[in-house]
Amino acid sequence: MGWAGVCLLCLLTWLGCSPAGESGKMVRSGQVDVVSLNEGWTFARYGLQADGTLREEPEGMYATGWDDSSWRKLDVPHDFAIEGPFRMDLSGNTGRLPYQGIGWYRKSFVLDSTDADKRIYVDFDGVMAYAQVWLNGQYVGGWPYGYNSFRLDLTPYVRTGGENLLAVRTDTEKWESRWYPGAGIYRNVWLVKTGQVQVKHWSARMRTACLTESTARLDLSLEVENHLDKDVEAVVKGEVYELDSTDCFGRRVLRLPAQEVRLSARSAQAVKLEDELDDYKRWDIGSPNRYVARLTVSVGGQVTDRYDVPFGIRETEFSRQGFFLNGRKVALQGVCLHHDLGALGAAFNLSAQERQLRIMQEMGCNAIRTSHNPPAPELLDLADKMGLLVMDEAFDAWARGKRTWDYNKLYNEWHEKDLQAMVRRDWNHPSVIIWSIGNEVMEQRDVEMTRHLAGIVRELDDTRPVTAGYNNPNGGRDSNAARELDLMGVNYFFGQQARWDEDERYKDMPTVGTETSSCVSTRGVYFMGDTLRKNFQISSYDLDSPGWGCSPDRQFATNARFPHLLGEFVWTGFDYLGEPTPYNSDNTNLLNFRTDPSKQEELKKKLEELARIQPPSRSSYFGIVDLAGFPKDRYYLYQSHWRPELPMAHILPHWNWPDRIGQVVPVHVYTSGTEAELFVNGKSWGRRSKREGQDFRLVWDSVVYQPGSVRVVAYKNGQKWAEDEVQTTGEARKIRLEADRNSLDAGSRELAFVTVRLTDEEGRTVPTACCPLKFEVEGAGELVATDNGDPISFTPFQSAEREAFNGLALAIVRARKGAAGEIRVRVSGEGLEPAVLQLEAR
Ligand code: GAL
Repeated sequence: MGWAGVCLLCLLTWLGCSPAGESGKMVRSGQVDVVSLNEGWTFARYGLQADGTLREEPEGMYATGWDDSSWRKLDVPHDFAIEGPFRMDLSGNTGRLPYQGIGWYRKSFVLDSTDADKRIYVDFDGVMAYAQVWLNGQYVGGWPYGYNSFRLDLTPYVRTGGENLLAVRTDTEKWESRWYPGAGIYRNVWLVKTGQVQVKHWSARMRTACLTESTARLDLSLEVENHLDKDVEAVVKGEVYELDSTDCFGRRVLRLPAQEVRLSARSAQAVKLEDELDDYKRWDIGSPNRYVARLTVSVGGQVTDRYDVPFGIRETEFSRQGFFLNGRKVALQGVCLHHDLGALGAAFNLSAQERQLRIMQEMGCNAIRTSHNPPAPELLDLADKMGLLVMDEAFDAWARGKRTWDYNKLYNEWHEKDLQAMVRRDWNHPSVIIWSIGNEVMEQRDVEMTRHLAGIVRELDDTRPVTAGYNNPNGGRDSNAARELDLMGVNYFFGQQARWDEDERYKDMPTVGTETSSCVSTRGVYFMGDTLRKNFQISSYDLDSPGWGCSPDRQFATNARFPHLLGEFVWTGFDYLGEPTPYNSDNTNLLNFRTDPSKQEELKKKLEELARIQPPSRSSYFGIVDLAGFPKDRYYLYQSHWRPELPMAHILPHWNWPDRIGQVVPVHVYTSGTEAELFVNGKSWGRRSKREGQDFRLVWDSVVYQPGSVRVVAYKNGQKWAEDEVQTTGEARKIRLEADRNSLDAGSRELAFVTVRLTDEEGRTVPTACCPLKFEVEGAGELVATDNGDPISFTPFQSAEREAFNGLALAIVRARKGAAGEIRVRVSGEGLEPAVLQLEAR
């Protein structure tokens, strides 16, 4: 090996990759010659401003000569609405945040003269909304639906050997939503280069079949495009490598037989590369083995394009017997997730997304429904790597909207393009197991439309079932529209399951709970007696839900009673910005009772009342985990049920009730055990046991409160299984900081999530402490945002001062760009001993 080889080896070792793969690391699915365009944009907001005033939008801001020297300098992903301020005059549905406005972004980049013969594209992973794009003063194109990824061909407009100016206009003034959508270039942007003969964007599709335990069939189809004015002979090769969880290429396992294609001038042709792979490893939730097919296209011995197709080999089957993954029955223990990342708003960040998914997985969740739109592509990459299953969903509305300015305005012109974009972008992900064409759309009874949309999906991919979320399951069934789907997707109303099971037309159709429970609660808040709601907060005994929902326990009982159900997707895994039901006056809620006039009437009155009161709520109460990422009690209820093999017990509420000495404080216990005994200050309150399929929590309703300790000992099969104890604490005196990582990569905008805990002298978290805190970050780092999970806090997320909420707060920290060395996170508050945490920027 020469010096060059040694250096390459060093570089690959440094990147953490084995040198077996010819180029080490995959950047992303698709063309290999790709660079990030995230850095160095300028930004200005026009139209509706954050404070509600108007700023006129001048003409011609796409021009190269436009003076943008006064514009803000920033990097994308960027969400210009998350800066707030929260405003009471804005709707709670969309987080009381000023997301409506016009964003202008400009960025210059240099193309080398060696790029002269190349094709140059820009890939936007998502722009909210109505994106329009110019290059060097000329209009290139756009994409209105804010949740889809899209590519634009810059080739006719680029200047090689010089500067290029990309200008993007985003418009959310006429985008309405039932939740907080964010605004601006909120996902990654990429510059892609290829030769004139290339793999067509998103054309490469790997289909796999497990032929035997040891042999799999790989069937890779793609289209090759010739952009030249002459005919060419191209050779397409494909090599298959193992791909590890850091996207490093491992061993080469297969060379697919190469194909020669004759392409006439300016034409495209389909190509197939097929072979069998021996000794393959299946992708599964516990062993997410991945491969990548590296494609090369060459003409006359010259490589003109390279393209990576990551994939996994797994078998899925859906039937009335259940969902089977690699022949094993797996109950879908899923959650619905909206796209925002709490205090970061809609601005995508990989470490924030990964944290969400890890917290969900730790709970025992094995599936995510990307409600109600295509996610950031990285969410699916993470799901592939982590072994999570995904229901990939396209729309919340079709041609008849739920809002004047929602998808209905786009449907006619765009639904086909949007649906195809989702399927083509996502079809190689082993994690994606179900396509959903819509959520609670107005046309649930429409046979033609359902057939049409399902058809668009099936034409591209017939290996995954198509479903939709019905909140009018009877309507969908009666009209036969639901028969156009492969899976019946039911949102709530499982009380009718027995009747549905008798319906001849649907008796063979698998059913999945596309949305369940909608339990609402505020972390750490408990009300006694019959009070469930007070001061715009909701008791965390996990018994409250809007009229269409139910407690998690009740849904578990339904699932147990109807074992043919494939499982459920709980509404929701995390709290999200907007839709603060039941403190939300959104009339679309009435649609959940479209066949029940008396319930509609009742809810209508409530909504009118809410519109009058104007609650200050700005984020949801549905989350199993709060907006800051702190588990609510419910987290342990799901964990106890979804991870029965994990010994655990969790007591609620906390044990600081100075005003209730001698009065009843009900104690509930979530445990994966089957029985438990409760003790208050050593005195037993008796042993309780769960009835199989009926009880999912243990309840001691008449416990009389005395300060001290409440302790539970749980049993399983007669054996001691798990314990939990909650103690009455003293006043908050100290601060404890815990980060989810110690070192931060400055380049990738990695974030550290620092949990701030207020403790008493003895280090016990004080569950009622809400002290004001001050956050400082020094050295090589900076504070990105703070949060505490309180759904009625109007403190801006960027604020370095924030109260703790029920004992906890969160600081989100990153390394300063290009910085290395020590980062010090300091948190202080009056009467509290300050705390400092050290992190490392690299
Ligand atoms: C469903 C809807 C969700 C959310 C939820 C709240 O009907 O599909 O988007 O609004 O209700 O319970």
